[in-house]
Order: sequence, then structure tokens, then C-alpha cells
Amino acid sequence: MYYCKPIACLRKHYSETNRLIKSEYSIFPDQRYYFYDFAHIHYSQLVREVELNNQYPYIVGISGASGSIISKKFITALLERDLKVVTIFSNASKLVWDQELKTSYQSDVNKWSEYPNYTNYAVGDLTAPIASGSVHTNGMVIVPCSMNSVASLANGITNNLLLRSADVCMKEKRPLTIIPRETPLHAIHLSNLSKLASLGATIMPTDPPFYLNLKTLDQIVNYFVYKLLIQLGIEVELPPDYRYTG
Ligand SMILES: Cc1cc2nc3c(=O)[nH]c(=O)nc-3n(C[C@H](O)[C@H](O)[C@H](O)COP(=O)(O)O)c2cc1C
Repeated sequence: MYYCKPIACLRKHYSETNRLIKSEYSIFPDQRYYFYDFAHIHYSQLVREVELNNQYPYIVGISGASGSIISKKFITALLERDLKVVTIFSNASKLVWDQELKTSYQSDVNKWSEYPNYTNYAVGDLTAPIASGSVHTNGMVIVPCSMNSVASLANGITNNLLLRSADVCMKEKRPLTIIPRETPLHAIHLSNLSKLASLGATIMPTDPPFYLNLKTLDQIVNYFVYKLLIQLGIEVELPPDYRYTG
């Protein structure tokens, strides 16, 4: 028996066996533990994780740094897994999106709107539900994250919905994953990222796995999106083509 991220294990186990729980045992009357195959999970944690993953949205903030292709693939990957997704595009991100993907962000928002689990809020809409800490979410990923948004967050500036939602995640101690994109980084960038890490944010640069000798940008982006899904506990492991085999 070993420990791993419960929800990803549960999803894998459930999809393979169609059974969520194998057996149950109690240690203390008010502390029930479930045991199945390889996970040992406190009852309340299990229930919370299952509920969070299935009922509450993942917020995806897209700021004006390079890397729109990563957000596009990531948002699509969440929707294809029937997860709830809320997106917020900063004003600068719309310019970058149009330049990098040669398509308007609005046309992608329109396509995603066909999924019942998808919502997009305008970055200026500070009345959107996710601006309030009392509205529950699965946390937020900012992909890509500009140094401007990093600096704002590190200093508590929340004058648009993207920043406010991320600030809410930090104050409510919900997962916040930041995919920073800038090179080289100067000392203020590094100090701001360090501040966010010390507040509990996960800082996840997009560095490619050079050791895998991936040939195309598409492969490198797919690899990173998988790493992100694993980081969030949505997937358990990389597909065989992306695994290090020594
Ligand atoms: C095509 C393009 C690419 C950019 N790439 C980056 C980048 O990789 N990293 C970054 O920090 N800023 C980048 N910027 C600058 C940001 O868009 C700018 O600082 C903006 O104010 C960020 O605002 P936001 O944080 O509200 O999205 C880029 C701008 C453009 C037009």
C-alpha cells in the first residue's frame, strides 16, 4: 500500500473497475478511513475531493504572456474530462492570443461555450460569483502568467477579476498554480515569485523535458499540459510516450 493523490487514483480505479470503494474500516468512531487497492484516505478528505472535483469549477486565468497554445490545450483537456471550467482573459492576453494562435480568443470562447460546464467572465466583471470567497471553487491556474500579474498578486493588487479570483484562492487557501513566462528574470520577478510560493502558490515554469527528445511544439505542449493535470490531481501519470525510461 502506498499514498498518492486520492482523487486521481479514485478516478482511475473507478474507470477501470466501475467501483469507487473496495472496503471500509474504522479506527476511531468519528474518523472513518477507506482502503482500496493502493490509497488510504480519510473519509472527509475523500468526500471533499470527490465533491470538489465534480461539482466545483477550475478557474483558468489567461494573462498577457506568451504561451496561449498551452492555455488552449489545457482548457480543452479539462472540458473533455467533463470538469467545470471558468475562464478569465486579461485584456493583454487577447492581443497575445490573436497574434500567437492566428485566431480570435472570442472564437475559442464561442466553441467552448458549447460545453455545458464552461463559463467565461469578462476581466472587468468584479460582480462575477468567483470574485467572492464564499463561492467555492477547485482553485485556479494562471496560464500563462505575465510578470505584471505576478507583481500585482505578490503585492495584493486585485483590480480586475483575474487578480481578484487568484487573491481569493490565496486567502481561502485554495490551490493556486502559476505558470510564469518571461526570460531572463530579474530580481523583482524572482522576489515576487518567491513571495507567491511562500503564500502557498505552486510555481510551474514551462521548461521542456529535453531528455525526451520531443520533436514538435505540439508534443512539448502536450507534455506540459499532462504535467499540469497531474499537478492538479486530475491525472495520475504521464502517457507512455512522455515517460522517462532511462
Ligand atoms: C505579443 C506579446 C507577448 C508578450 N509576452 C510576455 C511574456 O512572455 N511575459 C510577460 O511578462 N509579458 C509579456 N507581454 C507583456 C504583457 O502583455 C504586459 O506586461 C501586460 O501589461 C500584461 O497584462 P496582464 O498581466 O493584465 O495580462 C507580452 C505582450 C505582447 C503584446
